[in-house]
Amino acid sequence: MYAATLITTLLTTITKVDAFACTGTTTLRDVAAKKNILIGSGAINPAYLDDPKFAVLLAEQFNSLSPENEMKWEFLNPTKGNYDWTKLDRLVEFAAANNMAVKGHGLISSCCNPPYLLNITDPTAFRAAMTAHFEAIMHRYHGKMDRWDVVTEALMTMGGGLNQNAFYNVLGPGYIEVAFRIARAADANAKLFINENLVETLPGKRQELYDLVSGLVAKGVPLDGVALQMHETIYAPAPGVITDMVNSYNALGLEVTIAELDVHTLDPVNQTNIYSAVMDEALAAGITDISFWGFTDKHKYTWLPGAEPLIFDENYRPKGAFYAVHTALSQDRNTTSSAAATQC
Ligand code: G3I
Repeated sequence: MYAATLITTLLTTITKVDAFACTGTTTLRDVAAKKNILIGSGAINPAYLDDPKFAVLLAEQFNSLSPENEMKWEFLNPTKGNYDWTKLDRLVEFAAANNMAVKGHGLISSCCNPPYLLNITDPTAFRAAMTAHFEAIMHRYHGKMDRWDVVTEALMTMGGGLNQNAFYNVLGPGYIEVAFRIARAADANAKLFINENLVETLPGKRQELYDLVSGLVAKGVPLDGVALQMHETIYAPAPGVITDMVNSYNALGLEVTIAELDVHTLDPVNQTNIYSAVMDEALAAGITDISFWGFTDKHKYTWLPGAEPLIFDENYRPKGAFYAVHTALSQDRNTTSSAAATQC
């Protein structure tokens, strides 16, 4: 027993030195903290914490995390009244032990809904199921999760209207308002977000999201912000698009965050440039909450064969993308100077 703990401690110590020394610079977390910026990693499957290198690098480089699939309805609550809290509890405990914020991703999405919910056709019973589910999660993690993706991917992927998902089919387009009102009633203080993709790339979808969100705000629906996924491929968003979105949503009294940044390209130089462009414009526009959809290519989610979309490689070595993010975070936006990250 003693030997095992000694080995783990040794491993963690070696891992700590190795991971930290390799970047040859301050951590993203250190730089971000100086500017009150949340720099986080989403797509954290708690099983990944079994690897000390993963755990150490996550806690060293980031001050926020969110689960990958562990809060999605069918994985957390597969049958009525039965919840598997073990995975989310482990994430929350890890975050608390490392003084990290946790974002709840997410309460509703178009995928991953259990049969017991899909079988409900009565709107009153459906709303009751949503209320029970939201309350179970938000009451358990009250004060431990400070931000929530209440509705993820309400719009069709390429735009053209609302996803006709399980919630839409029973409650109609009003399900989004219902979801936010239930979430606000469950937690009066947490920040509530609508999470969407591709709006930085598709002008029509960008307008659809703005029309949807501004309509919700006009009706007094308790919404605090818009979480932009930002899954990029070979082009950065056109200059000014992120700034325009931030300004238009700020004008509605809403915050804009980046929730799932990654760059799916086979060209590492282009990848570095896209990370740099997104981070620079986002920070210049005043975004203070930025998360990646994972941080090491060892645990990536991509649809592009051969893509390595994240800022550390599968051996936890920092890539050009890491240094682009570090440089953008280090930039003193009051003056032109920036502490360029040294490469190792
Ligand atoms: O758990 C089942 C397993 O029992 C089954 O054997 C296996 C084979 O079908 O599937 C497993 O479920 C998979 C699940 O991940 C858990 O690993 C689903 O098939 C798979 O589709 C699901 O992929 C997730 C995807 O969302 C869909 O939910 C990805 O890991 C996750 O990274 C991805 O994340 C989304 C964000 O939530 C929202 N924004 C986009 C982002 C990337 O697409």
